[in-house]
Amino acid sequence: MTLRALIVGYGSVSAVHAEALRSISDVELVGVCDVAPERRDAAECELAVPTASTVEDAIRRFAPDVVHVTTPHHEHESVILAALGAGCDVLTEKPISSDLSSADRIVAAAENTKSQSGRSPRVGVCFQNRYNLSAQAMKETVDSRRFGAPLGAVATVAWHRPPEYYTSKPWRGSWATSGGGLLINQAIHTVDLLQWIMGPVVAVRGRVGTDALSEVIEVEDTATLTLTHESGVRSILMATNAAPTNLPVTLDIAMEHGNMRSGTELLMTGDGTPDEVIKERLPSDRAKAYWGSSHIELIRDFYESHEDGETFWIDPNEAMKSLRIVKAAYDGAGGFPHRAARDLDLGNPYLR
Ligand SMILES: NC(=O)c1ccc[n+]([C@@H]2O[C@H](COP(=O)([O-])OP(=O)(O)OC[C@H]3O[C@@H](n4cnc5c(N)ncnc54)[C@H](O)[C@@H]3O)[C@@H](O)[C@H]2O)c1
Repeated sequence: MTLRALIVGYGSVSAVHAEALRSISDVELVGVCDVAPERRDAAECELAVPTASTVEDAIRRFAPDVVHVTTPHHEHESVILAALGAGCDVLTEKPISSDLSSADRIVAAAENTKSQSGRSPRVGVCFQNRYNLSAQAMKETVDSRRFGAPLGAVATVAWHRPPEYYTSKPWRGSWATSGGGLLINQAIHTVDLLQWIMGPVVAVRGRVGTDALSEVIEVEDTATLTLTHESGVRSILMATNAAPTNLPVTLDIAMEHGNMRSGTELLMTGDGTPDEVIKERLPSDRAKAYWGSSHIELIRDFYESHEDGETFWIDPNEAMKSLRIVKAAYDGAGGFPHRAARDLDLGNPYLR
């Protein structure tokens, strides 16, 4: 049976979804929905599919089995609820939503909705970096205790988002529409990997600030977080969107008898064993290198597991974990923003 796919939101990331759909057999992209007329024109021209301006109209006209949600964060909930209400499966971009109460409503709808046939629609969330070869090897190594218990982790996300990234799509720089900045939009992938590999997070301490782009955005561009895991060990995340270029995300995990470091590849160093290097897959044509190389793997897996009707393993409950951590960091002691009270005075003799 060929499954019918609809993409809602034809902006930056939707090209990766369209590319993935082309590469999967027995799936047909039957339409695109976007509120912006110029984006509908682009979809008609680039993908040769019919378009609609509302999700309700798109579902009625194109009768999709699966709805891909690639809208801004505050526009996830309405699209997901409309799709679930029509009995469609949903594959949504991260984060699950811009705020926790909206995310709770999505979790409840995903759990309680049944289609007319009595089947529960499946909802998957695009945390594609869990499919990275390095992430899977790290998870397997930590879970198996091959090098003993993990002692802690350190991750860095040093990326470059110029002012135009925000001015061209103003939703990205506003609390009301994005629900945050660097942490909820970029570093959430790494937060997700830390909690997935190192275990549930029970405490979050952090500092967030708008250090480079305060003239342009109200959300944060820089953050440091200390996560305490259920086991008692800690993960440190240092992240910024103010780097001069997009550097590879790094993740170091120290274990009792070995270390793992992933960047462009994974290096595993264990006591008494030869070093092991695991190469990462190359990113697809339409993906930006810093998005990682695994979107297509996740989307393919979502479709391949469609027939068995099981819940997708990265479901809304699973996606809540990283959102809760990010929101805890925003709500942490002192509240947001933790900005320098004033620019440092370089005439200050103590700084010379
Ligand atoms: N997984 C990843 O690596 C990754 C990478 C980039 C973006 N994303 C996520 O993808 C989502 C979209 O980000 P983007 O940068 O592509 O955004 P974008 O602004 O480039 O595109 C969003 C599109 O949605 C349309 N839209 C807005 N509201 C709509 C609605 N109610 N119905 C239909 N269309 C609507 C807009 O007109 C726009 O064309 C976000 O959740 C973002 O976090 C994920």
